[in-house]
Amino acid sequence: MSSVNAGSWAPEDDMESVLLAKDEIQERVRELGEAITRDYQRRPLVLVCVLKGAAPFFVDLVRAIDLPIHTDFIAISSYGASTKSSGVVRFLKDLDSPIEGKDVLIVEDIVDTGLTLQYILDNLSTRQPASVKVCGLLLKDRERAQDITVDYVGFHIPDKFVVGYGLDYAERYRNLSYIGILKPSVYQ
Ligand code: IMP
Ligand code: MG
Repeated sequence: MSSVNAGSWAPEDDMESVLLAKDEIQERVRELGEAITRDYQRRPLVLVCVLKGAAPFFVDLVRAIDLPIHTDFIAISSYGASTKSSGVVRFLKDLDSPIEGKDVLIVEDIVDTGLTLQYILDNLSTRQPASVKVCGLLLKDRERAQDITVDYVGFHIPDKFVVGYGLDYAERYRNLSYIGILKPSVYQ
């Protein structure tokens, strides 16, 4: 095994607090999977992962769904190293397959301003899917410009910048199995 010095790595020191522990997340993901399984009986479902943030949630969620689903992946531009939404959204990777006539469930890590989700919904809706719904692990408690419906919500959380379980700050912390509130001193 090669030895690489990754610098000092003590993510717990960068957290104000742990918002959601690993077990709490896993339990809620299991419940979401059961709800989706109940709601999509006998309907061909395509689950769409919004890369990169939703990836850990997505791989846990699909295994909690007891249906013959298909999976697909999109990537959209993110904040970069900022903690504020730029409002500028574009596709970096599109779906591999058409969704015409299919029931689609978009799987997102977090809905903050809702700008990203609105853009994805507007775009996918033009492709004549049978339905498009949204499963968001986290929904931030804040005012949103558009009225956005998140059909399956994992957790309602306070308006703080959080990382872990896919969520990043400047590409870091995605590999934590818990979700923590990042100390403002880390990004200020
Ligand atoms: P929105 O467009 O403002 O709803 O933001 C959506 C995207 O911003 C999410 O998919 C995340 O990638 C990122 N984001 C928003 N809030 C946070 C946060 O608290 N931590 C990490 N990423 C976030
Ligand atoms: Mg992101």
